[in-house]
Amino acid sequence: MRVAAFISGRGSNMVALADACATPGFPAQMALVLSNVVDAPGLGIAAERGIATETVPHGPYKGDRAAHERAIADILDQHHIDLVCLAGYMRILSPWLVEAWRDRIINIHPSLLPAFKGLNTHARVLEVGVRWHGCSVHFVREAMDEGPIIAQAAVPVAADDDAESLNRRVLAAEHRLYPHALGLVASGAARVQGERVALRGHPLPETTINPPEADA
Ligand code: GAR
Repeated sequence: MRVAAFISGRGSNMVALADACATPGFPAQMALVLSNVVDAPGLGIAAERGIATETVPHGPYKGDRAAHERAIADILDQHHIDLVCLAGYMRILSPWLVEAWRDRIINIHPSLLPAFKGLNTHARVLEVGVRWHGCSVHFVREAMDEGPIIAQAAVPVAADDDAESLNRRVLAAEHRLYPHALGLVASGAARVQGERVALRGHPLPETTINPPEADA
């Protein structure tokens, strides 16, 4: 399966995915890294690893989201991409692209969805005082941070956490969770059935990663 990672910034999740793809026997290949931000640091990292990169800045398409996304879809076709992994891509996709690529776009979000959709999840988690936080990988739907959930990782919230320490702990979990979820999708083990993800040959505990190592 040929995968494209979409990034807008540093791309640490993209690197975790690329590392997994480079593992012998992994069912996906990182064929493209695409960004809407021309100087996204992750682009240089991808290029150093010999991964094709493309930039489609949204600025020139101001007011015409559909045209921006048609340009992106053309690039996906040119690179023969099968699956898109949003990895810190900070643009909401239009219904057109979501529908054209239905069940072929997945996203990682830094919360235990459906709680804490949107931005600044770590600060909001601390404000509300929940004891568990985490991250989710899901198929993308039209509504922001919604869609069938593939896998989640939970991390405890410590009494002395601030947004930065929580971010570090959740990010470490993201770097383990996203490759795991991509493996489930690329191998065909995870499929959308009736707006839930059905797993074949994988018992439930494998979709819940709660590694002590992530508790750094
Ligand atoms: C990650 O924490 C990712 O979950 C989050 O942006 C960060 C990107 O970091 N994504 C979202 O908030 C999307 N709703 P990275 O560029 O180092 O992977």
